[in-house]
Amino acid sequence: MSNRIAVVPGSFDPPTLGHLDVIRRAASLYDELHVLVVHNPDKAGMLPIAVRLQLLEQSIAEAGLPGRIVVGAWSVGLLVDYAQEVGAGVLVKGIRSQGDVTYETPMAIMNNHLAGVETVFLLADPAHSVVSSSLVRQVAGLGGDVSPYVPAPVARYLESVTSKEL
Ligand code: PNS
Repeated sequence: MSNRIAVVPGSFDPPTLGHLDVIRRAASLYDELHVLVVHNPDKAGMLPIAVRLQLLEQSIAEAGLPGRIVVGAWSVGLLVDYAQEVGAGVLVKGIRSQGDVTYETPMAIMNNHLAGVETVFLLADPAHSVVSSSLVRQVAGLGGDVSPYVPAPVARYLESVTSKEL
C-alpha cells in the first residue's frame, strides 16, 4: 500500500461543489486519486449509482482536474478492501463541522484497525460548509434552484428530471 495513492469515498448522491473542492485539493496532494462511489446501506439513495458515476466523471472533466483521477464504484465489501485492491494507503474525507468529525472518527479508527489505512481530513472551504447532498436533494426535490451548490453537469441533470422523478 502506498501513501501516494488515496481514495476519496462517499455516497455522492449527488456530487456537490464541496465534494469537487475536496477532490481537487486531494488530487494536488497525491500521485493517484480514486474517487469512489460507495453504497451506504444506511441511506436509501436518490440517484442510481451509474448516474452518480457519470456526473462525477463529467464534473471532474469540466473542472479540468488532472487525469490521475480514477472514478469507480464499490458495493461488494469493506471500503478498505477496495483501498487494498488499488494499493491506496490513504482515505481522504472533507470535514465541514464538528458533526462531521464525530461521524467520521469511529470509521477512521476502524479502517486503521482493519487494514492500517490512514484517514486524512481536509477542512472544507467555508464557502461550502453548509452544502450537503441531503440538502441539495431536498431543495431540488421541492423545485428549488441548486445550481449555486453543485457542479454544472449535476445542475443540468437535476433540471432535466422533474421533481417527481427524484
Ligand atoms: O457521503 P457519505 O454518505 O457520508 O459517505 C459515507 C461512506 C460511504 C464513505 C461510509 O459509509 C463508508 O465509509 N462506508 C464503507 C463501509 C465500510 O467499509 N464500513 C466498515 C468500516 S468503517
